[in-house]
Amino acid sequence: MDKTFVALDGMNRQEVFDLLSAYPQIKNVKVGLELFLRYGREFVKELSQKYQVQIFLDLKLHDIPTTVAKACKTLDGLNIRFLTVHATGGAKMLELAKESISKTVANCEILAVTILTSHNNSDIKGIWGRTHKEALINLLNEVAASGVRGIVCSGADLDIVKSFEEKASLSFTKVCPGIRPGSDHDDQVRVMTPQAAMDAGADFLVVGRPITRNPEVLRQNLFP
Ligand code: C5P
Repeated sequence: MDKTFVALDGMNRQEVFDLLSAYPQIKNVKVGLELFLRYGREFVKELSQKYQVQIFLDLKLHDIPTTVAKACKTLDGLNIRFLTVHATGGAKMLELAKESISKTVANCEILAVTILTSHNNSDIKGIWGRTHKEALINLLNEVAASGVRGIVCSGADLDIVKSFEEKASLSFTKVCPGIRPGSDHDDQVRVMTPQAAMDAGADFLVVGRPITRNPEVLRQNLFP
């Protein structure tokens, strides 16, 4: 399971350790706000010391550029593969986040979160006052201008992302949440199956509740 980041949401520290001990096929994990706010950076350190896992720190930072850059600096000493910031923070914020993390954590890539997979078309119209496609392209323009080359997007957005990449002659690392192998979507709206998202061009998937609710599903090899 090299391409799937398991979102460790809704779990406490011990539950996370139990999961990773019981299922060594989990090679990539996503630590989100819940775990980070509860246990802090020491937990992230402990995870990388105890388990052979790549860590995606999903903090979704969004503030003025200097504040975000300084927040990135506090991650000094952590072994993290990806860190998220919101694309809506704009090109300058993204650029400073990238610059700051490159000086702070070796091999950590900034991912710009585009449109949340929980947003439907009417949410998008309400928030951005434009269509889903227009909102997404505006965000991709900000990311492209910043020099950041990783994004988080719905698998359902990959066709728009790919045509943007072709026009702009660039390539993003594309990480897709909102992955559902079955019919239970929870609060996610724009969902895709793991296979469909990979076929559409995702580089990595983020899967939370479909795995953490019932880890035995891992034995079915549904996730890449
Ligand atoms: O449980 P589920 O598979 O829905 O978890 C998806 C994870 O991906 C959550 O941790 C959520 O914060 C994150 N995420 C998302 N949509 C985005 C960015 C991140 O669902 N656009």
